[in-house]
Amino acid sequence: MSTATLLLKGKEYELPVMEGSEGETAIDITSLRTKTGAVTFDPGYGNTGSCASAITFIDGEKGILRYRGYPIEELAAKATFVEICYLLIHGNMPSIPELDAFNEKLTRHSLIHEDMKKFFEGFPPSAHPMAILSAMIASLSAYYPENDNELNIIRLLSKAKTIAAFSYKKSIGQPFIYPRNDLSYTQNFMHMMFAVPAEGYKVTAAIDRALNLLLILHADHEQNCSTSTVRMVGSSGANLFASISAGICALWGPLHGGANQQVIEMLQQIRESGQSAKTFVERAKQKDSGFKLMGFGHRVYKSYDPRAKVIKKIADLVFAVTGKNPLLDIALELERIALQDDYFVTRKLYPNVDFYSGIVQRAIGIPVSLFTAIFALARTVGWIAQLNEMIGDPEYKIGRPRQLFNGATARNVMPIAKR
Ligand code: CMC
Repeated sequence: MSTATLLLKGKEYELPVMEGSEGETAIDITSLRTKTGAVTFDPGYGNTGSCASAITFIDGEKGILRYRGYPIEELAAKATFVEICYLLIHGNMPSIPELDAFNEKLTRHSLIHEDMKKFFEGFPPSAHPMAILSAMIASLSAYYPENDNELNIIRLLSKAKTIAAFSYKKSIGQPFIYPRNDLSYTQNFMHMMFAVPAEGYKVTAAIDRALNLLLILHADHEQNCSTSTVRMVGSSGANLFASISAGICALWGPLHGGANQQVIEMLQQIRESGQSAKTFVERAKQKDSGFKLMGFGHRVYKSYDPRAKVIKKIADLVFAVTGKNPLLDIALELERIALQDDYFVTRKLYPNVDFYSGIVQRAIGIPVSLFTAIFALARTVGWIAQLNEMIGDPEYKIGRPRQLFNGATARNVMPIAKR
């Protein structure tokens, strides 16, 4: 075993060095505080490996993303979202009988308890779907308190899409449309979103494929903000539904999953302002403007996000059916200008998954306010797989970072009259 030598205040310490299956190096600092009294300092965790994981591999420099060893481009070309769910949870691609059985279970559990429908009545029509989704997912624990992890995973995967679709129906004042057992996972979601009682809704093959691809691309992304949140909450022993609900809240933020909504709003703003894309790029470079190019930059990717490349191809597939969206031209122009600009080039800021995903979602009929909920729907399986991996590790511990205290040192409380 190789070691790293740390020289701290004149004394040498040996720390074990670990190596991942892709040759990644990590210094094991679990004994650091006991040996030296020091902790590491890493706000934002940019240099911290919080766990060992066998689920998703990313090489941000080379633009590589793999689920369980399979390249994202190949999965996008050959698999459905339900197959990806199976892969992430079980570790291997399903055989036909395994997939059939998995699909059957997902179909059987897609109804939500009738009493839960009353919750929707309590939300104002303007409620953001992420507020509804997080509250409803946490509430599932009240209906399924038993500790059957395998069954609860199926319930969660299946009911999340029903809840997301119902939250949309609520926002437009239409009656809820129940899931149908003859439809696939994605067809069922579109059916619950867009059918009305008087007439059904038939999803075209191209739109069905596009939705599958969007969900596949968002299904997991190793230890990002929301996944780390799920692991952190789950590490206290909180139940599955509570842990995933916390992940939904973390994903909501504009720097994370909420960026897809922000991108469309930015593109619309450019269109309506009549100003050039270049003006907005210039604004994003001014730190005091408070404006960022949404859908650009990534903590891990320092080259083109491979998911954004695939989404650009989905856009072609969708627009061949729906006709082109003018926002796509603005996005392409914005990307062209930014990728030639020294500010973006030197900082290695490329379009991320959210840059084009909103345009595709809009084209297949998903309302802007629901974009992040679609991301959450897809990521739910990643969160589940990551949580399972953690719980399955006999050595897992409650997540509890240290800090570097820089507040007041010990002092006494003065009597109030003397303060
Ligand atoms: N527009 C303008 N400048 C940017 C942008 C941007 N979108 N992103 C980063 N920068 C600058 C940043 O100001 C900093 O400049 P400097 O070195 O001069 O201080 C430099 O680039 C490095 O950025 P950072 O903020 O230190 O990087 P980070 O790893 O902490 O943040 C990020 C990553 C994704 C939060 C950030 O790039 C960002 O805010 N992007 C826009 C929001 C967005 O698209 N989020 C979706 C992420 S992908 C989907 C997901 O997984 O959630």
